[in-house]
Amino acid sequence: MFGPDPNAVHPNEHIPSVCYIKNVITRPNIQVGDYTYYDDAATGGEDFEAHVTHHYEFIGDRLIIGKFCAIGKGVEFVMNGANHRMASVTTYPFNIFAHGWEKCTPTLEELPFKGDTVVGNDVWLGQNVTVLPGVHIGDGAIIGANSVVAADIPPYTVAAGNPCRVIRPRFDAELTEYLLKLRWWDWSPEVIFRNLKALCSGDLEQIRRIER
Ligand SMILES: CC(C)(COP(=O)(O)OP(=O)(O)OC[C@H]1O[C@@H](n2cnc3c(N)ncnc32)[C@H](O)[C@@H]1OP(=O)(O)O)[C@@H](O)C(=O)NCCC(=O)NCCS
Repeated sequence: MFGPDPNAVHPNEHIPSVCYIKNVITRPNIQVGDYTYYDDAATGGEDFEAHVTHHYEFIGDRLIIGKFCAIGKGVEFVMNGANHRMASVTTYPFNIFAHGWEKCTPTLEELPFKGDTVVGNDVWLGQNVTVLPGVHIGDGAIIGANSVVAADIPPYTVAAGNPCRVIRPRFDAELTEYLLKLRWWDWSPEVIFRNLKALCSGDLEQIRRIER
């Protein structure tokens, strides 16, 4: 055994709030990698999909989340279906109330569309983060609590606030490039297990000397 079972819903029976999301996803338009978890003591984290809102298959956008991400309580992924028609006098969605108002149902072309939402690997989203449609968050990024992510966040940066802005890079440019090529999250469980101390250390020289 080289770590927890990535196919378990609750990988540690002593921490029932933590849920490996991949194993509870039911929607075809959400894709989540191994070991990525959602942590919510009130729900056991199994309600992750309820935090992906306005996500309608006919719109065609996907939520793609990589491996080894830590997602704090209260996250909200707002998908493209949330965007109202804006190039019109009113943004009020008359059509959804029917009773004749459906005569003004907007076409898909009339609705703003920002594309897929993509979260990389080894991303940490603090609690109550809101991610708006079409945003890409790079590998290794940290998003501070209560942030509203309205634009792309580069890999290996710490970012926070509303709007979410980069506070600082995590590492120098050379190490960032090294880690983006290393892609440790794609290693086998055994190789990860063998290199766990280096991955969990702040000794960046040790990381550079990792043997696979
Ligand atoms: C972002 C975070 C990781 C701190 O990172 P850091 O690099 O140590 O940042 P610092 O604490 O040095 O703060 C740097 C600046 O960012 C600001 N900042 C930090 N976190 C922020 C947040 N969540 N929202 C807005 N601004 C924030 C600080 O006020 C500071 O601003 P200043 O330079 O104007 O004084 C931390 O603040 C955070 O939000 N953690 C999330 C914890 C959480 O939600 N965990 C849930 C369980 S997974």
